[in-house]
Formats: sequence, structure tokens, C-alpha cells
Amino acid sequence: MIHLKRILVPTDFSEHSEHAAAYAAELARRFDVEVVHCLHVSDIPADLLATSGYYMTGPSEQFIDQVREESRKSLDEFAKKHLPDLPVETVFLEGRPFVEIIRYAREKEIGLIVIATHGRTGIQHALFGSVAEKVVRKAPCPVLVVKAQEREFVMP
Ligand SMILES: Nc1ncnc2c1ncn2[C@@H]1O[C@H](COP(=O)(O)OP(=O)(O)O)[C@@H](O)[C@H]1O
Ligand SMILES: [Mg+2]
Repeated sequence: MIHLKRILVPTDFSEHSEHAAAYAAELARRFDVEVVHCLHVSDIPADLLATSGYYMTGPSEQFIDQVREESRKSLDEFAKKHLPDLPVETVFLEGRPFVEIIRYAREKEIGLIVIATHGRTGIQHALFGSVAEKVVRKAPCPVLVVKAQEREFVMP
């Protein structure tokens, strides 16, 4: 019998990770888990690129704080909306996403990681996004990889 106590749901706030969170929520209920850890890793320069389109002179401390604040808020909203009525712990870390996800999974003795195949970059040609692929390779526990849904099929 599998006794699942802790599930980890890493999110980059993409639609794909919302879809993965729906699976995590259902599993958490069925397995009656103790806690669902919902983790966002801020890779600050990449986030700044996404927010501002570019930055050339280096971001100000104030701007970095603003990005941090926004990420924390998005994380709380994500958990409230996509993991409702569950014992959730939201975690905000900074660094390289896959490194922090793996480190956290080890530290907290996570029983299952639920992650989407793709994230913010979206579905391109690769089967997995780079974070998802590295998490599968290096995770200390089973990983449920939820395939991203393509919104539309464009005829070649
Ligand atoms: N910075 C991050 N923090 C937490 N989870 C992340 C982060 N980046 C990606 N992920 C997780 O990995 C999944 C796959 O994303 P990724 O491999 O980065 O694909 P893509 O190349 O399409 O962005 C996301 O849906 C999310 O669950
Ligand atoms: Mg990504």
C-alpha cells in the first residue's frame, strides 16, 4: 500500500502548471495527504525579462523587490485557486528552478512531485520543457508528469 504524506507541486504560474495542479489536488484528496507543498522558484533575471521585455543596465533593488512581491502574491493566489480546501504550504525560493525543486523534495521527504511537461515557454518541439526534464531525471521520488494541453491544432 502506498502511503502518500507529502505532494510537491512546483509552479511557474503557467496554464500548464494549473492543469498539473488539478491532478495534484485530486490525488491529495484521495490519498488524504498531510500537506501539499506548492513551490515557486524565482529565477529573478528571467522573471525580469518576462516582465519588462528586456533590461540593459541591471535592475534596481526596488524593481527586484517588486518582482518578489508579485511572485509571492501570484503563488498565494495560485494555491488558493488551484489547490482549494487542502492543507497547503506555499514556498517561495530563489535560484535555478530545477535545483531548488530537487533540493526541496529531498529536504522535505516529498513522496510525489506533480509537474507539467511544459510551462511558460510553452509547447515547442521538445517533449519536455527543460525544468520538467531535469526534475524527472534527478528527482528523489516518483514524478507524475502531466502532459500539457495544446490549445489548438494548426494544420501544417
Ligand atoms: N520557476 C519555476 N518554479 C517552479 N516550478 C517551475 C518553474 N519553472 C517551471 N516549473 C514547473 O515545470 C513545468 C514545466 O516547465 P518548463 O520545463 O520550464 O517548460 P517550458 O520550457 O515550456 O517553460 C511547469 O509547468 C511548472 O510546473
Ligand atoms: Mg520554463
